Amino acid sequence: MSNNIVWHNQAVSAERRADQKKQKPCLLWFTGLSGAGKSTVANALDNALFQRGYHTFLLDGDNVRHGLNKDLSFSDADRIENIRRIGEASKLFTDAGLIVMSAFISPFRSDRNMVRSLFENNEFIEVHVSTPLDVCEERDPKGLYKKARAGEIKFFTGIDSAYEAPQAPEVTLNTHEHDINACTEILLNYLEQRGFIKNTPEQAQDMV
Ligand code: ADX
Repeated sequence: MSNNIVWHNQAVSAERRADQKKQKPCLLWFTGLSGAGKSTVANALDNALFQRGYHTFLLDGDNVRHGLNKDLSFSDADRIENIRRIGEASKLFTDAGLIVMSAFISPFRSDRNMVRSLFENNEFIEVHVSTPLDVCEERDPKGLYKKARAGEIKFFTGIDSAYEAPQAPEVTLNTHEHDINACTEILLNYLEQRGFIKNTPEQAQDMV
């Protein structure tokens, strides 16, 4: 970083932005193997929150790698940079007053902890989508495990690149045991209990 950059205080603080939206921002960080169901669950939660009138945003590995991070590969160094950028982007979105869901393999514990360190204690919610490798491989929704086993994709997470499972995630979801609605309920309950959302019914009709 250049020494000639000075932090500029903004007239509209993160707190005021959140107050205006009448909500408490937080980041739900979904981590797990490819095919574990991170994007599916994050998407369902995003939809459920949106229907209840909350201001949300969803960041997803495959989509972000089409744009902001399209210059990054799956080497360890590039995965670290991938998560660094997503962590910073997530922080910008929560500073904007949003409830954010980020769904990335994020295989390395130290990177996830780096993102955690950007947030106040309870505002970073690590969600381990803990679907085991054999189930992910069996599902193989994009046919990538098959390619990785055939040696057509190198450094594939769980095959020839490491995945470090979280040691103390705030939430663990077993998508092989719970269906998508059950996973969404678990997360909505968590957010209610922590005071991030109120126990209000869906407002589907009003929102469309
Ligand atoms: S991360 O490891 O850097 O966090 P990220 O979540 O952005 O990964 O991207 C993962 C997605 O990229 C997977 O769901 C899969 O579709 C695709 N992908 C392509 N190559 C690989 C690979 N070598 N390892 C894991 N996922 C890969």
